[in-house]
Amino acid sequence: MNTKRKKISILGSTGSIGTQALEVLDKLQDKFEIIALSAGRNTELLKKQTEKYKPKYVCVAEGADKPDVDGAKILYGSEGLNQICSDKENDIILVAVSGKVGLKPTLTAIDNGINIALANKETLVMAGDIVIKKAKDKGVDIIPVDSEHCAIHQCIKNRNDVDKLIITASGGPFLHKTLEEIKSATVEQALAHPRWNMGRKITIDSATLMNKGLEIIEAHHLFNMDYKDIEVIIHPQSIVHSAIEYKDGSIIAQLGVPSMHIPIQYAISYPERFEGIKSQSFDFAQAARLDFERPDYKKFPSLDLAYNAGIQGGSATVCLNAANEEAVFAFLNGKIRLYDIYTTTEKMLSSHNIIKNPSIDEIFGIDKEIRIKTREILKV
Ligand SMILES: NC(=O)c1ccc[n+]([C@@H]2O[C@H](COP(=O)([O-])OP(=O)(O)OC[C@H]3O[C@@H](n4cnc5c(N)ncnc54)[C@H](OP(=O)(O)O)[C@@H]3O)[C@@H](O)[C@H]2O)c1
Repeated sequence: MNTKRKKISILGSTGSIGTQALEVLDKLQDKFEIIALSAGRNTELLKKQTEKYKPKYVCVAEGADKPDVDGAKILYGSEGLNQICSDKENDIILVAVSGKVGLKPTLTAIDNGINIALANKETLVMAGDIVIKKAKDKGVDIIPVDSEHCAIHQCIKNRNDVDKLIITASGGPFLHKTLEEIKSATVEQALAHPRWNMGRKITIDSATLMNKGLEIIEAHHLFNMDYKDIEVIIHPQSIVHSAIEYKDGSIIAQLGVPSMHIPIQYAISYPERFEGIKSQSFDFAQAARLDFERPDYKKFPSLDLAYNAGIQGGSATVCLNAANEEAVFAFLNGKIRLYDIYTTTEKMLSSHNIIKNPSIDEIFGIDKEIRIKTREILKV
C-alpha cells in the first residue's frame, strides 16, 4: 500500500470546482498534502482556506488585493501560477481556474513532468494539439475532471477498440422551451441549471449547449477521436455521465448520482480509487427511468458551431472560445440577449482567417484580437 501523501496544488481553489476539491481533500487528509492554493479576486475565502490548509504558496490574480495570510508565500498573476507549476514537489496540479488563464500554467506543469487533473476545458479548446503532444512527449498524465470525460476515461480500456464516444448532456434549463422563450431568456433563468451547481460562465454555456460543444473539442483531443465519432445525446437525469461504443457493438457507460465530487476525486487520485467522499449510491429501482433524446440543433445552434470549429481545427477553436466567452460576459452583464451569444460567435468565426497550426504565442495573439473585436461588435 502507498503510504506517502500525494502533493497537490489547486489552481482556482475559490471556485466551484476548487471548493468541491477541498471538500474531497477533507476526506482524504491521510492521502494528500496541499502545496499551493490560488484565487482570482476572492482573497477573503483564500485567507480562510490558507488558515485551514496551510499551503506553501498562495496566488491571486494580477491587481487583486494582497491576501492577508500568514505562513504562505504570496504570488501574483500568471507568473505566480507558473511558479507553482514549476515546483517539482507537486505530484499533481488540479487546474480549476476558469478561462484562458489555465493554459500557461498547464503547459508549465507538463514541462516539469507534473501530472494534471484538468477541469479547465479552455486549455484543450485553445491549444489541444500542443498540450496533448507535450504531455505525451513528457510522459505526463492529463486526467479529465469534466464528468463526461472522466466517465469516458473510466470506460476506455483499449482506445483502438473504440468506435464511438457518446457524450451525455442534461439539456440545461431550456431543454423543452421554445426558440422564442430561449431568445428572450433572462440571466436569472439561464443561471438556473436544473442539475449542476457551477460557476456562472459554464452555467450559461450549459444553457446554450456551447458547453457541450466545448466538451466535444475536449474529447477529440483527450481521446484522439474524430469529430464524426463523437455523438451528443440529451439525458435530462444526468445519471449516465457518458459512454463508449466498442467496435463489436458493446456499449460501456459510467453512471452515478450527479456530483462533481466523484470526478474530482477520481482525477486527483488516479490510478488509485478511494472511498473518500462517496455520496449516496444511485438507486436504480427508485430512479425507475432514464430518458434520452437527440439535441435540437435549431434551438441550440452553438453545438453545431462548436462541431464545425473543431472540424476546421487550427485557430478556429481559439476564435470560438474567445468570442463565446466575451459574448457570455456581455449577456451576464445584461448587454445582449442569450441568443446573441450564438449570433456573435458565429459572426466572429465566419470572418476569422484560420491559422492551421498556431504556436502558443499565436494562440494568445488571436485570443486577444478576437476578444477586442467581439467587444467592439457588442459595443461593450
Ligand atoms: N463547475 C463545474 O461543475 C465544472 C465542471 C466541469 C468543468 N468545469 C470547468 O472548470 C473550470 C472552473 O469552473 P468553475 O465552475 O469552478 O468556475 P468558477 O466557480 O467561476 O471558479 C473559477 C476559479 O478561477 C479563478 N479565476 C478566475 N479568473 C482568474 C484569473 N484571471 N486569474 C486567476 N484565477 C482566476 C476564480 O477565482 P475568484 O473566484 O477568487 O475570483 C475561481 O477560483 C472552468 O474551465 C469550467 O469550464 C467546471
